[in-house]
Amino acid sequence: MKILILNGPNLNMLGTREPKIYGNETLDKINSEIIEFKNKQNLDIELDFFQTNHEGEIVDKIQEANEIYDGIILNPAAYTHTSIAIADAIKAITIPVVEVHLSNIYARENYRNFSHSANACIAQIAGFSKNSYKLALLGLYEYLNNNE
Ligand code: DQA
Repeated sequence: MKILILNGPNLNMLGTREPKIYGNETLDKINSEIIEFKNKQNLDIELDFFQTNHEGEIVDKIQEANEIYDGIILNPAAYTHTSIAIADAIKAITIPVVEVHLSNIYARENYRNFSHSANACIAQIAGFSKNSYKLALLGLYEYLNNNE
């Protein structure tokens, strides 16, 4: 099973970016913890990671992933709240996508309370900090094992 973890804008700044909201760990550190988690849980998954600050590049990656991966874990970051293009890209592919957020977007500013992409995804996990990614991986793994 191959899964892509796709991160959007400003998530490359994790570690120093608003640590009270997003924690002190870098994206590289979070990614290596996800690999450790996968190994500990014996999940038979090949994982790839990609981060970009550009909306169109997220759209390109989602489209390309459809040919390469069994599923995507996506944190669209601020594009969650603005991007119909990313929502449309998710609707255009056949592999399942899980939306992830470090913070609980429903407990923050009003403009973060709405996600354009969530209803195109099989699930959304928000508010468990870095563990949101691990829970998404477990959920997607179970989903793919039960739906293929
Ligand atoms: C975020 C929440 C978004 O509102 C914000 O723009 C981000 C990160 C999260 O993971 O909590 O950049 O997606």
